Amino acid sequence: MEKREKVHCLVLFYPSQGHINPLLQFSKRLQHKGLKVTFITTRSVLKTMQGGGGGGEQSPSSFSSIALETISDGYDEGGASQAESIEAYLDRFREIGSQTLAELIEEISGSGHPADCLVYDSCMSWALDVAKRVGIAGAAFFTFSCAVTNIYSLVQNGLLKVPLNPGSEILQPGLPPLQPSDTPSFVYVSGSYPAFFKLILDQFSNLDKADWVLCNTFHELEQEAVDWMAKFWPLRTIGPTIPSMYMDKRHEDNWEYGLSLLKPNSDACMKWLNVKPKGSVAYVSFGSVAVIGEDQMEELGLGLRRSKSYFLWVVREKEAAKLPKGFVEETSEKGLVVSWCPQLEVLAHEAVGCFVTHCGWNSTLEGLSLGVPMVAVPQWTDQSTNARFIMDVWKTGLKAQADKKGIVRGEEIAHCVREILDGERGKEIRKNTSKWKALAKNAVDEGGSSDKNIDEFIAKLVPI
Ligand code: UDX
Repeated sequence: MEKREKVHCLVLFYPSQGHINPLLQFSKRLQHKGLKVTFITTRSVLKTMQGGGGGGEQSPSSFSSIALETISDGYDEGGASQAESIEAYLDRFREIGSQTLAELIEEISGSGHPADCLVYDSCMSWALDVAKRVGIAGAAFFTFSCAVTNIYSLVQNGLLKVPLNPGSEILQPGLPPLQPSDTPSFVYVSGSYPAFFKLILDQFSNLDKADWVLCNTFHELEQEAVDWMAKFWPLRTIGPTIPSMYMDKRHEDNWEYGLSLLKPNSDACMKWLNVKPKGSVAYVSFGSVAVIGEDQMEELGLGLRRSKSYFLWVVREKEAAKLPKGFVEETSEKGLVVSWCPQLEVLAHEAVGCFVTHCGWNSTLEGLSLGVPMVAVPQWTDQSTNARFIMDVWKTGLKAQADKKGIVRGEEIAHCVREILDGERGKEIRKNTSKWKALAKNAVDEGGSSDKNIDEFIAKLVPI
């Protein structure tokens, strides 16, 4: 252990909740295994946390002995919301972030415990250039599935031509033949969010210089995609990065990740769940970014009413105005609508019987690892591909089908929720979720596939 303590790992994340959670959890894991870890955030994120965005209750001490340092994204007062466009934000972040990261690493070098390795969110490929310039190891951390990462890399190197031909079939290791609409939205919706698409493709621009490519998945979950990608990159699967996985008495951890940009209504959610029968509640959430259309919101509301089940629905403050008029009051006997919740604690609650999800990769892994059957309602980015995994590969849920206008109607939502809560298919799906829950736990338990990979990663950093 002593030698491990000499290793200093810096972990840099992209400032968005779906990226913060897995990287923070991975940091905790490294620290638990004896490394010194410094978590690097932007000054704007720190301000959000301290200024009330995360509830005002959070402070750097939330992650105990993991040190916290900051760099600048060039918009210290408000982050991306201050920039005139996402393009402007990302360009400035690259420029100012590179400068301030290099300065920070230099400062850390003079502190008596110099850095050995930078683990960076793959969406910030410029960070690898900084690591190489200052002479430390660099590990890219992908927060998407391995299959999705592979699709993006094929597009980047021209092996998958976009726009995809409508009606074409895309063959990917470990997945059934994909329709264009099953691929990530940046790939199949021509010209959508060009700044984000560039960011996604940039992940691979210098990846051949990375000492490791870490992916938040586990070997058993995506075996074929992992084996395929490992032929080209020094790939290691290290997930799922979920705190509850460590809670089998031997690991000290909290339920929550520890750094939330939004304030959860924890007490209200838990009190409400505590008095609901086992497996009776549909938990509904679309993550931290997805913007739901007004029509879709109305259909979701209709579907939840029609399902006649209990529901706990997360509608972020910015989305609340789209809720059907009078919905909260009229459905208060059956449902609770909150602006943010402690998702892991909710998913782990025995009252929750199904998870209506946008299929963000973290939510997908969380639902699977905590054994909750899912109703997939993908919105954008990688979510359509994740939904195919849920429905057709792991068989841990149903994909709610959209109509010609791309809207999932209330009737369909109600049907999927009922089918999972008390239909015949629900029984089969619950069997499969139990199987995957156990496999996920095995992967991160001592000696499991991901645990071994983390040990191997650490061993290469430990001085001989
Ligand atoms: C996005 C992408 O969708 C995802 O695929 C990518 O890998 C990372 O960025 P997001 O859309 O926010 O993330 O979804 P998701 O990946 O599911 O992450 C959301 C996180 O917020 C989860 O870890 C979830 O536990 C947490 N959450 C969500 C809460 O803590 N409370 C809530 O009420 C809702």
